[in-house]
Parts: sequence; C-alpha cells; structure tokens
Amino acid sequence: MKSARWPAFLSRVMVATTPRGDEGRASRRGLRGVLLACLMCVQATGAQAEDGYDLWLRYAPAAPAAAAEYRSLTTQLVMPVPSATLAAAQAELLRGLAGLTGQAPDRAAAITREGAVVVGTAGSSPVIAGLRLDTRALGNEGYLIRSVRIGGHAATVITANTDVGVLYGSFHFLRLLQTGQAIDALDVRESPRLQLRVLNHWDNLDGYVERGYAGASLWDWHTLPDYLDPRYTDYARANASLGINGAVLNNVNAEALSLTAMYLEKTRALASVFRPYGIRVYLSARFSAPMEVGGLPTADPLDPAVRRWWKEKADEIYRAIPDFGGFLVKANSEGQPGPQDYGRSHVDGANLLADALAPHGGTVMWRAFVYSHETPEDRARQAYAEFVPHDGRFRDNVLLQVKNGPIDFQPREPFHPLFGAMPRTPLMLELQITKEYLGFATHLVYLGPLYEEVLAADTHARGQGSTVRKVIDGTLEGHALTGMAGVANTGADRNWSGSHFDQANWYAYGRLAWNPSLSSRGIAEQWVRMTFSNDDRLVAPVVDMMMGSREAAVDYMTPLGLHHLMARGHHYGPGPWVQGGPRADWTSVYYHRADERGIGFDRSATGSNAVAQYFPPVARQFGDVRRVPEKFLLWFHHVPWDHRMASGRPLWDELVMRYARGVDYVRGMRATWQGLAAHVDAQRHAHVAAFLGIQEKEAQWWRDASIAYFQTFARRPLPEGQAPPPHPLAYYEALQFPHAPGDGR
Ligand code: GCU
Repeated sequence: MKSARWPAFLSRVMVATTPRGDEGRASRRGLRGVLLACLMCVQATGAQAEDGYDLWLRYAPAAPAAAAEYRSLTTQLVMPVPSATLAAAQAELLRGLAGLTGQAPDRAAAITREGAVVVGTAGSSPVIAGLRLDTRALGNEGYLIRSVRIGGHAATVITANTDVGVLYGSFHFLRLLQTGQAIDALDVRESPRLQLRVLNHWDNLDGYVERGYAGASLWDWHTLPDYLDPRYTDYARANASLGINGAVLNNVNAEALSLTAMYLEKTRALASVFRPYGIRVYLSARFSAPMEVGGLPTADPLDPAVRRWWKEKADEIYRAIPDFGGFLVKANSEGQPGPQDYGRSHVDGANLLADALAPHGGTVMWRAFVYSHETPEDRARQAYAEFVPHDGRFRDNVLLQVKNGPIDFQPREPFHPLFGAMPRTPLMLELQITKEYLGFATHLVYLGPLYEEVLAADTHARGQGSTVRKVIDGTLEGHALTGMAGVANTGADRNWSGSHFDQANWYAYGRLAWNPSLSSRGIAEQWVRMTFSNDDRLVAPVVDMMMGSREAAVDYMTPLGLHHLMARGHHYGPGPWVQGGPRADWTSVYYHRADERGIGFDRSATGSNAVAQYFPPVARQFGDVRRVPEKFLLWFHHVPWDHRMASGRPLWDELVMRYARGVDYVRGMRATWQGLAAHVDAQRHAHVAAFLGIQEKEAQWWRDASIAYFQTFARRPLPEGQAPPPHPLAYYEALQFPHAPGDGR
C-alpha cells in the first residue's frame, strides 16, 4: 500500500506556495487543513490517481522511517547556481527531496548544521573547492557522491568536473532515495562508458511518428519556435536522469525541409530547452537535400557544388546551434536516396558530411541498415558485404550505426555479424525501444533482456570474450568515439510511451547506454521501485514478470529462430502467409521457407552461408544443426518437422508447445497483476490490466494463426492437450487492419 504520508504532488504544492517564517507556519497549518481534507478525498476514492506522466521521477514519499533518515541527511542545500544546468540540478533536488522526505532542504550559503548536501563543481562551489577532491578520472560527464565531514558536520557532496556531471550526480543521488537505499556512507564514482547516448526519433514534420505507438510527435513544429511546451523540459529531465545526451529529432526517412532556415530556427528553439540538460540535438539528413532545398541538379558526393552546399549548410546550422551534434543518415536503403545513386560508395557519402561537420566538432552517424531487393543475396548478408570492404576508410568523426541483428529488430535475432568485423571503424549499436515487432505499446514486453543478450553476445573477433559490449564501448579496438542509439518510443500520450510498462524500455535503454554492463534485472528492479513502489510484495513479482516477458513474446510470435512473420506494412499481428508484392524480402515466406519437409532459412554452408560472416568459432556453432542454440535453430537451418529437439519432442510438437508456452506466460502475468491491485494506484492498475487483456487475446491470435498456417505444411496432428485453432486459416488470412498505428508513410 502507498503510505499515508503527503502524496508527492501535495508536498510540491506546499513547497511552492507556502511563505517562510512564523507567518508561514500559521498559514501552513491552515493550508495543511485544506490539503488534509483533499488527501482524505483522494484516499476515499482509492489510491492517489496517477497517469504516468511523472515517469520514474515521481518522488513519491519514502516509507516513514526512511523519510525521517533522509530528512536528517538533507537538511540544507549548499549549492551556488551560476548556470542553467546547475539551476536545473537544484530544482530537481528541491523537488525530489520535498517529495521523498516531505520537506525540501533549506537553501544555505554555508554549512551550519548536520546533514547538508553540498553540490557543484570546484569552480562553482567554494566549499567543494576547499575539499580538494581528486576528480580527474571522472572526465566530462562523470560525478562523485561522497559522505564527508565538513567543519565537524556530516554532509554529502555531489560533485563533478562539469555542470552536467553535477546534474547527473544529482539524479543519481535522488535515485538512491527513490529506491530506498541508505545514504549515510556514500562513495559513488560514475562516468559513462559510451560517449554518444542518443535517442532516434522517427518523427515526421507533420507530427506523425513512424513506428510510434504513443500518439503524435512530442515536437510541435507548427508552434515552434515561439511556443516552448513545458513538456520539452520534462522530456529533457527524463533523459538527463538516465544520462541520455543526444536526440535526433526527425525520422531517418527524412524530409529535406528540416534543413531549411525555417526549420533550423525551430530546431534551435528545442536545442535551447535541451541544452541545460546536457542534450545535444542532431538531425537526420536527407542525402538529396542539395537538390530538394538547395536547387542543385545533383547530390553527387564528389561534385564540388554539392560539397560546398553541405559545408555552408553545416556552417549555417552551427551559427544557430553551436553545440549541434551532427547528422544521422539512412542512405540507399528502402528507397532512400544515397551516394550509390551516383555510382559512389557509402564512404564517399559519409565522408562528404563528415568533412562539412568536422570544423565544428560534429559527428556523422551513418546507418548500416542497407539491403536491396535487386540483390538476390540473402538479406541477412548484405550489410556486411557492403560495409566490410570499407573498413578504415571513414573519417574520424563517422560512426557506423548498426542494428542489433542482421534483419530488423525482430523479437530475437543473433547479433549482427558486422560487430567485430570492422576493427578500424567505430561501430554504434542501434536498438529499437518502440516495439514495432513486439506487440506495439499494448504488449507488456520488457526489452532489457533483449538488449543484454546482444551486448553480452561474443563475436570472438579477438578470441573469446570479444563481446558486442566491448566492440561498442571501444575497448576491443581502442576507439575513442563510441555510442548507442535507441529508436524512441515517446509520443504525446500522457504517459509518454503509450503504456506504463513501455516506460521501462526507455529507462533500460538509457541506463545501458550509460553503462552497457548493467544487468537488465537490476535495471528492472530500480525502475519498478521508482515507478510503482518500494514495497517488496510488489517489486519481486513485477520484476519476475518483466524478466520473462520478452521470451514469452518470442514464444507466441516467432519461436525457435523464426523471424519476420508479421502482417505486411503495419506489422500488426501474425502474417506468416504473406507473399508476393513488390519485393521478396518484405514477405514472410522468404524468411520461414516452410514446406512439406520442414521449416527454416538455411544460412549454413549448404544454404546462403550467412554463417560464414561470423568469426570461426561462432560460424561453426551456428552452422552446425546439432550445436546451434535452439533459440536460433530456424534462423540458420531448414529443419525437418520430425527433427528431435532437446526436449525429446519432434520439431513440430516443440513449435506448438512454444506457442502455447508464450500464451500461458501472458495468462500468468494477468493473474499476477490482478493479485497486485492493493499495491498499485487504481488508475495505473486498471490501465495495465486492460492492456494485459489485449495482450492475452493477441498472443492467442498469434498462436492460433501461426499453427493453422504451419500445419498446412507439417500435416501432423497437434500434440496431445493442444486445442486446435478456433477458426480455419482463411479467417486469419482475411483479417485486415488498415488503420493500425505507426505504419511507414
Ligand atoms: C524498419 C521499419 C521502417 C524503418 C526502417 C529503418 O524497416 O519498418 O519503418 O524506416 O526499419 O530502420 O530505417
């Protein structure tokens, strides 16, 4: 149960509206009466109403004993605020501590009692300068939080070399309180492992979000630059709380318009809101922009006029936005223009933009998500074939942005073979936070385990232990330029992500971008504590539920290495029968290859030989049907329906059992959640419960439709106890969803 202390929002009202001194005390008592009555109304109607807007920054009251302890250790805030970033940190500390402890610390110029919190850089805070702390190893964004004694008083210091480091440290400090930890003997040193920690917004200028399931874009381009929605600030706060330091504002399927003066002015306005929070803005650059908005007859990267155009464009951008991050580019992929339109290479294209940005310190994030339907080669092989020959030829300010797997953000993919294969090029990992292929916003699927699985995958590039994590953090090959990109799941929905549990995926991405070695379970636990409550009766079951949820989605959608079986276009629901149309690699039959003998894509030496793109120990394992992990079996092999699985069952039976297992898991989540009603506010409880209901229905639909379809090839009975699909295959094939959200356009 929520404790009966002041709800966070009431504490905030009190902090904001109550005068100080005796008069204040009297009027505070009066106000308390009114607020108490208010509180009683709220309690009479159930728990405090919560709509999810506050994300993991709710700052709900700590349990009484903890709150008392925290109050005694946060009596004063000694923190000069000579910059907007420090002002943001101070505002967050005041707000957070007021909510968590019921009392904001007094702001003081010097320490006069026990329990001061001293915050700043050595430059901004004379008290901290006097401590002479060694902060050299913290770098530009790291921080130090330490319990110390100053002038005989116990105090907590939050310091860094930069203001943004102080901001990150302040959020970390608050997180300790939010998750119920002791704060009396702290010695925390943190700095990010990756340099660029970026969200990619696939937001169109008309407000539509490609693959977005949380409403319209957060950016209201129409009212920018004149109106700065307060929500922009809350977006920046949420990101800064995780250490996310970049946002690509527009869709990778970019419009050239975003590079015009009018739109740059709007981008400049957003940049000014984000800057105090350490967030740099980036833009997706359309490769043909010199023609579309520059009036040139070509966009050939070797053409001098084109080179001049990009240089002048970069100069113009940096005049408006001196800390502009750079460009993200999707070129020669899925119909986007690119250097190959002129017979040039990806290197020519990337270096053209890199040269324009270099004088200003900007970065090009060039995407490796390229494949062509004109190429008969297995789609999974194409990016590797395209890019590996270019290793070492990109400029120093180019990062190659590689999706986690070689196809496209499927519920499960093996790691992309490019990881480890381009030692002389820094690679940036691209993850999808929005759940295009994982049930949109309605399914509860915690992506932490997916992210962790890819980060931990061993490429064997330099022997055992050459994990994807080490490739992208630069330690494997000694790269200084490093980064991670997450395709955002944010939108204008009140709860930001379309569902409460999808907030956890934003959170997990941010935490892993800061430190790719964190465990997804630890992150989930932290998130649950901050987002719902510290009550262990809630925390343990919810974390368990989250941890198995991704595997469940794999089971009910695409078990055993199956992939890309969703309906065409919008990708909502099952469509294993999808065939025909403009290109084979946009059909399902291309990927599952089911026939009377068996099912799966032979990517071994007898098939497309995509396995050969992995380093030998991995290639040998993936290429051998007896050694490949079952989770990748049908990704790499075409396997007879009677193939004996580890369980002893034939493949067909195992497949059916996996589908059923996925549905059962969702049923279990529903039951668990029902049992938690007493521990969650009614509003969020009901929302999650309804969505779990949708998920169960849809998991069942995936199972039924997939089994009905594959049975036409397997021609075998269902294993005992498995109910036949309630409808004939034709029923599932005929379902249409012309208005499913998020479709590309
Ligand atoms: C997927 C997705 C597209 C997106 C593309 C990309 O194919 O369906 O909407 O544009 O990925 O990553 O570029």
